[in-house]
Amino acid sequence: MNREASVPTSNSAWKLHEIRLVSRKKEIPIVETFEFSFVDSAVGQQYAARPGQFNMLYIPGYGEAAISTSGLSQNTGNIVHTIRQAGNVTNAIFRLELGQTLGCRGPYGNGWPLRDLEEKHLILIGGGIGMAPLRSVIESLRQSRCSFSKVTILIGGRSPDSLLYSAEYDQWRSSGFEVLTTVDHSTTGWQGNIGVVPSLLDHIELSDPNAAIVMCCGPEVMMNYSALAAIERGIPEDQIFFSLERHMNCAIGHCGRCQLGSYFLCTNGPVFRYNQVKELMKIPEL
Ligand SMILES: Cc1cc2nc3c(=O)[nH]c(=O)nc-3n(C[C@H](O)[C@H](O)[C@H](O)COP(=O)(O)OP(=O)(O)OC[C@H]3O[C@@H](n4cnc5c(N)ncnc54)[C@H](O)[C@@H]3O)c2cc1C
Ligand code: FES
Repeated sequence: MNREASVPTSNSAWKLHEIRLVSRKKEIPIVETFEFSFVDSAVGQQYAARPGQFNMLYIPGYGEAAISTSGLSQNTGNIVHTIRQAGNVTNAIFRLELGQTLGCRGPYGNGWPLRDLEEKHLILIGGGIGMAPLRSVIESLRQSRCSFSKVTILIGGRSPDSLLYSAEYDQWRSSGFEVLTTVDHSTTGWQGNIGVVPSLLDHIELSDPNAAIVMCCGPEVMMNYSALAAIERGIPEDQIFFSLERHMNCAIGHCGRCQLGSYFLCTNGPVFRYNQVKELMKIPEL
């Protein structure tokens, strides 16, 4: 068993907080962004999630679901989650009305590697709902004073109307970020790229592959091909990061539900270097 994880041992790791739905915004079909405030504002003031961490959201009678933070919480003490209707818990969240409450515990997990980014070329690759944990990175970079050399955001969707956060791309571009999109199937009027997300890596200018950091989230097949395309461009394997998804139960390293080889996704991850998990990801059903 991997011993590097810092497993929370205090009771506070289990502590469930009551949060209230304050706003919701439809993004694409069956995906919305929800903002919640803590009912106890003192808890909200202390709550701080790093980009790439996740909360367990709880609806009585339905259960819990792991959901990444998709926005920064520092400014308001509120938490932001972009949620895709997938099953019991997420469907119940979609039935909530403004002002209703639910349970939340967290934040959990390690988050994206956002230290020591000076002079780095950051390449964020997201497919579908996989853009959610990357959006909090983008918000963090927009507020950062760190002098990274370049930020490139590569986004894929099934069709033009399933490109997540498309209303925000112009803001991201005005922050100096390069934003490229592609779709599996075009519709009338689409003049952009058609094809899989990893193919976008061929379109970007990469002055120094050794200074590139890739952060990738989406379907595993997309992440694997993105890693191969990045390696093809000369980016070292240990500078490619995946955010992985498995069913979770405790989220604090106790139950083993999220185990991947010798790792627990909830405490060792969900973000891993490609070379940590590439062999494990080849094993079916693991
Ligand atoms: C770290 C992390 C971050 C995540 N971030 C987000 C996010 O930001 N936004 C988001 O929308 N989702 C996110 N997810 C995914 C989300 O947690 C899952 O989709 C979760 O299952 C939704 O719960 P649910 O009760 O609504 O759906 P479920 O009822 O769990 O159903 C979801 C899917 O899983 C299948 N399923 C159910 N039970 C099992 C089982 N025992 N074994 C195998 N398959 C099963 C169902 O058939 C269905 O296709 C994240 C997951 C992880 C691990
Ligand atoms: S969910 Fe990871 S060990 Fe329980």
